[in-house]
Amino acid sequence: MEIIVLPTAEDVAVRAAAIVREQLASAIAGDATASGILGLATGSSPLGLYRELAKARRSGLLDLTGAHGFALDEYVGLPAGHPQSYREVLTREVCDPLGLDPANLHVPDGSGRTLDELDAAAATYDDSIQELGGIDVQILGIGSNGHIGFNEPGSSLSSRTRVKRLSDRTRLDNARFFARPEDVPTHCVTQGLGTILEARALVLVAKGLGKAAAVAAAVEGPLSASCPASVLQWHPRAWVVVDEAAATGLRNREYYAEAAAGLDG
Ligand code: GLP
Repeated sequence: MEIIVLPTAEDVAVRAAAIVREQLASAIAGDATASGILGLATGSSPLGLYRELAKARRSGLLDLTGAHGFALDEYVGLPAGHPQSYREVLTREVCDPLGLDPANLHVPDGSGRTLDELDAAAATYDDSIQELGGIDVQILGIGSNGHIGFNEPGSSLSSRTRVKRLSDRTRLDNARFFARPEDVPTHCVTQGLGTILEARALVLVAKGLGKAAAVAAAVEGPLSASCPASVLQWHPRAWVVVDEAAATGLRNREYYAEAAAGLDG
């Protein structure tokens, strides 16, 4: 795991976007038929990263023609076209600015009326990721309680895409996107931690003091379902890119800076 602490959220966006581009480029290098498969997070954390990728696209440094995007999660029960449904959010924030064909945007189906229907669609979604060859680079944010995707504390470290109940903390955190707190759905469909671990590279971004405890637990705490993001410790190619505020709880910062300097450090 590589931990990169940078002065500002802007720096985080620039560095994380560069890592995503490099990992995507190396994943498709040498295969003329491959266009890349991106794992997409929602929330405010990756917005700067998406803006940087859009900039790279405008400069000709990124071409997502033919690429696919897989969302981490979706709310259950929002009507199709709801502006806060993650399909709509990703169409706005990713498809349009980055040139990802909306037909190649895959989002878990949260429209099922029963648990059986939702679970069946979740399993199909999970399978479809592998059928297209697996995710090259998974972009991640982190919840203030340590969740990734919507894998709330207590999620199995080997879980697959499935229905989850949202915690009160997460619903409160996400209430800012809805007219009233009670409008935040109670359930979601999320890629599991086991699903996320199958991506060939993981890039987690976090900014702000509100994420400091979760980042510290994820990076320096035990590998534990109590902090789902700690599962990154198990992945062979994971980057955690955070600003100064989000790094406040890290004890080994000096070492991370030395390690990032490579052989010259
Ligand atoms: C949301 C998403 C996560 C996201 C997290 C943090 O609920 N499901 O994928 O990483 O919560 O959101 P934010 O970046 O807005 O703090």
